[in-house]
Amino acid sequence: MLHALEIAGMVCPNNVFLAPMAGYTNYPFRKMCEGLGAGLSFTEMVSAKGLHYRNEDTKLLLYHGPEGERSSENGATLPSPEDSPTLPPPESNATLPSPENGATLPSPEDSPTSPPPLEGGRGVGVRPLAAQIFGADPDVMREACESEELAPFDLIDINMGCPMPKIVRNGEGNALMEDPAQAEKVIAACVKSGKRVSVKIRTGVSEEKKNAVEFAKMCEGAGACMLTVHGRTRDKIYAGPPDFETIAAVKAAVGVPVIANGGVWNDKDMRKMFERTGADGIMVARAALYRPTVFCELTGREAPPLLPLYLEQLSETERVYGERFAIVYMRKMAAFYLKGTPRAAEAKRRFFAAQSTEEIATLAKELM
Ligand SMILES: Cc1cc2nc3c(=O)[nH]c(=O)nc-3n(C[C@H](O)[C@H](O)[C@H](O)COP(=O)(O)O)c2cc1C
Repeated sequence: MLHALEIAGMVCPNNVFLAPMAGYTNYPFRKMCEGLGAGLSFTEMVSAKGLHYRNEDTKLLLYHGPEGERSSENGATLPSPEDSPTLPPPESNATLPSPENGATLPSPEDSPTSPPPLEGGRGVGVRPLAAQIFGADPDVMREACESEELAPFDLIDINMGCPMPKIVRNGEGNALMEDPAQAEKVIAACVKSGKRVSVKIRTGVSEEKKNAVEFAKMCEGAGACMLTVHGRTRDKIYAGPPDFETIAAVKAAVGVPVIANGGVWNDKDMRKMFERTGADGIMVARAALYRPTVFCELTGREAPPLLPLYLEQLSETERVYGERFAIVYMRKMAAFYLKGTPRAAEAKRRFFAAQSTEEIATLAKELM
């Protein structure tokens, strides 16, 4: 079940991954989850158009560690976490938060013909680095893959699962599952950049339009080296149990590694996902927001206490993105981490009233 996973020559120390989550999977969060056991983590989805227009926020979304670090002291911040609505609970029908990503640069330089070999791994901790992009224009997507911002990343994942109306209306995200010909052009263009390219899909648009198997074969044929299948149709958003059968059918239909996603909250869920799908790996999203130590449970490690984790995340978030962002983001993280504990509502109220990272740290020491 648990094992190192090779993806086109890139070796991940294990096959339990942190999913891309807009508004949440910034560098300090990814670093923390990898420290707790995640074998690979993804940046939140980044707009290829944003990269084209050299949007500064987008560059920050792709921050991946001290090397080449960007200053954020003057209020240069990530898209405000205030823009992200409350997290949808496990079985809700809530919609995705809107990532206000910008974007950045092109500069189609000479592109290698095949991805560079990667020995051992690097980046956050010792893991390879993975970014996720979205877009529907093959040229812009290729340009993004060739951009200097994505150069450090070992794997570029293309988002073909996002159900948000403002993304789908542009023909991006999950809209591409309704237009396999366009999707194929997008994947092929990205692959031409020489980067390793993976695709994250859903089981389809609706029960009547469940095309994951055919679509996955197309993705593989176009050059994708890994597929993640979120086991729900677009119209379900996050609701309901994952569709194990369709994920299993995708796994049986393609030769590249298949990662199963959806509804993994604990070790029991993970085992069921592996057993029912035969997938090569699993990907965890919401459970990590409420309980990042879920990766310890899933990978058989002892979970460290919450307080030092939170304080480290707080200081890293402030260091990388500045105090304003850290205050807003870490208030929300405190609410996630404390959910379900006695006096959670009171703790949330106090964290949300905090006006500095110092105040937040003091509260954490009292309440965590
Ligand atoms: C707040 C939030 C933001 C998300 N942002 C992205 C994203 O940027 N890209 C993506 O492919 N999926 C995104 N997703 C979907 C997750 O990656 C994942 O597919 C989904 O939540 C199902 O996994 P889970 O049941 O473990 O939560 C997001 C989900 C949530 C809850």
